[in-house]
Amino acid sequence: MGDGVYLLTTNPGLEDIVEIELRERLRARPDSGVDVDAIAVEQKPWGLAGTLVASYLSNALSGGTLGSDLEDSLLEMQSVYHVVRHLRTAELRGDDLMAELLAAVEGTAIEPVSPNDTFRVSSKRSGTHPFHSVDIEREAGAVVQRQTGMSVDLEGYSVHVRVDLRDRVCTVGLQLTRDGLDRRWEWRYRPRVAQRTVVAYGMLRLARLGATPQCILDPFCGSGTILLEAAKMYPHARIVGGDKVIECVEGARENVRAAGLESRVSVEHADARDLVEQWPAASVDAVITNPPFGVRLGRKTDFEHLYHRFLRGVEHVLRPGGRAVFLGGKRRHYVVRVLGRLRGLRMKHVRVIETGGVYPAIYVLERITPDGANRSAISEEAP
Ligand SMILES: C[S@@+](CC[C@H](N)C(=O)[O-])C[C@H]1O[C@@H](n2cnc3c(N)ncnc32)[C@H](O)[C@@H]1O
Repeated sequence: MGDGVYLLTTNPGLEDIVEIELRERLRARPDSGVDVDAIAVEQKPWGLAGTLVASYLSNALSGGTLGSDLEDSLLEMQSVYHVVRHLRTAELRGDDLMAELLAAVEGTAIEPVSPNDTFRVSSKRSGTHPFHSVDIEREAGAVVQRQTGMSVDLEGYSVHVRVDLRDRVCTVGLQLTRDGLDRRWEWRYRPRVAQRTVVAYGMLRLARLGATPQCILDPFCGSGTILLEAAKMYPHARIVGGDKVIECVEGARENVRAAGLESRVSVEHADARDLVEQWPAASVDAVITNPPFGVRLGRKTDFEHLYHRFLRGVEHVLRPGGRAVFLGGKRRHYVVRVLGRLRGLRMKHVRVIETGGVYPAIYVLERITPDGANRSAISEEAP
């Protein structure tokens, strides 16, 4: 695949956002001189949703620090969970899959950096095989130990070898991330329904806010994931959250304080159904939010009514051209029905993602300017 190859993981459905973020970060590196177009990015290699391969050919470049610039950029990514420096791909063709897999590990140059290095092997496996991932970890671990002389340390390891198997494709690499790049905040309050930071980042990207938005609102803010991600992305914007549950308001405020962002991020005890009463018209650049949806709402709640009141408020608070991005159930008919009753919003984009084993949709709406374009069609557009 090339001289420097990295596997990246994200939520299925956000692969394009990873590629955009990566190229943007590389372009923004001061003095790197990186030819961004020399980086090849493949989304969903081997048909694997939620994965990307970023690679470069060193002989296509005239020296420089591309490798370390790329690696540094990858480790700053907000749309990525893990980064693995890829070492080898092997397609297993015979009957004894484990023997072939171990031969692939044996044929891979894994070298300790210092004499005291210790290692662990982790494996993710999908498909039908006569063994489990723990068997791969144990047997590949024995091969690495024999080959390198490093000893195993499952907790305090300094080298993290990944041996993954998807159907008959085995990949061997070194995982560069430890806890996951999404663990970037110190959470004092984290309810079960809290959203992944990577998903919040993806939603913010889909709002296409430009460089200097003034005000971003999350009226169903829960623990404040979107608020924190928005503050990181837009250091000059005012960020406002609201929640109708006082425990969430206090918890989100604690999270904001722990992040040192209280001068720019405020959290109100407010009902998202009352935005019309709470906010001046056209005063917000974007509403990015994760209302309760589907299974979590319970049968008795009038779902469509909640959405109607919420979106009527969105229509009121957004400036013309402003965007609302929200995570909702993937059945879009109720959103379409509510939008049919509102003249000032149109659907720009919908995509289904996977997060925590569920498949919600991200909806992107736009506040139509008074000369309003075609408001009924869903126009799919890239982020
Ligand atoms: C799915 S959770 C949001 C999770 C949040 N993004 C996070 O990462 O923690 C939905 C939130 O909406 C709040 N909520 C429900 N109905 C509301 C309403 N009418 N007005 C404001 N907040 C509401 C709930 O208390 C809950 O915190």
